[in-house]
Amino acid sequence: MRLVDQVAIITGGASGIGKETALLFAKNGAKLVIADYNEAGGQAALEELRALGTEAEFVKADVSNREDVQTIVDTALNRFGRIDILVNNAGITRDGFLVKMDPAAWDQVISINLTGVFTCTQLVAGVMMQQGAGVILNAASVVGLYGNVGQTNYAAAKAGVIGMTKSWAKELGPKGVRVNAVAPGFIMTAMTDSMPEKVLGLMEEKTPLRRLGQPMDIAKAYLFLASDDASFVNGAVLSVDGGLTL
Ligand code: NAI
Repeated sequence: MRLVDQVAIITGGASGIGKETALLFAKNGAKLVIADYNEAGGQAALEELRALGTEAEFVKADVSNREDVQTIVDTALNRFGRIDILVNNAGITRDGFLVKMDPAAWDQVISINLTGVFTCTQLVAGVMMQQGAGVILNAASVVGLYGNVGQTNYAAAKAGVIGMTKSWAKELGPKGVRVNAVAPGFIMTAMTDSMPEKVLGLMEEKTPLRRLGQPMDIAKAYLFLASDDASFVNGAVLSVDGGLTL
């Protein structure tokens, strides 16, 4: 029980890593607000959280829409009166080779994976600064550190998230707010479902631990970073990739 009575917002909490993280946080005593633009998935995740006896809310929200993000923040404050943890997890891919990339795919990925993280953090940071405490966790990626063929938009957004993480660690640290990022390798979720078996097999072979990641691998990293065990960790980008990028 490492997050007793801590109030956490998790974006993209309807599936994959976000949902796993919400459930793990709940089992560690947290109160949850999950936000996602997938309403059916969000309601189902909410039911699972409440079945654990967790105080939780679901907000149907698109993180690229500022009004929606304000609704997430208002919901957390109205229901729980504070926000201790923000996990900026919502994200998408719209892959394509550079010369073929539809500019709309560029805009979409940047507005969700980069601007969405900016907006959520901007609207939550003021609350945390007033509290004099808080933790912000961002979903980066190995792709943001090392790049990837066919992922110009995604790599740009995730590299941007890493830049924002370090800037905010410096800016918000003096106010008692820690900011860190996790850079997952290839994790088995809906996001990687669409990747060809062959590519996933290759990734597995290239990973020293000889397996792909599971959502729980990332959820545990978020739990560590959110908890007091990481009270002196600020501005870090924690690779959780089985050694893939060594
Ligand atoms: P996922 O596709 O299973 O889950 C993403 C969730 O975000 C979905 O529930 C989706 O509805 C939600 N979402 C997407 N756009 C949204 C928006 N505009 N507003 C609100 N909700 C939105 O994907 P997964 O794998 O769980 O990814 C979670 C995060 O981890 C993403 O930021 C992703 O980029 C990152 N990541 C994932 C890796 C992987 O291999 N699966 C590797 C590295 C990073």
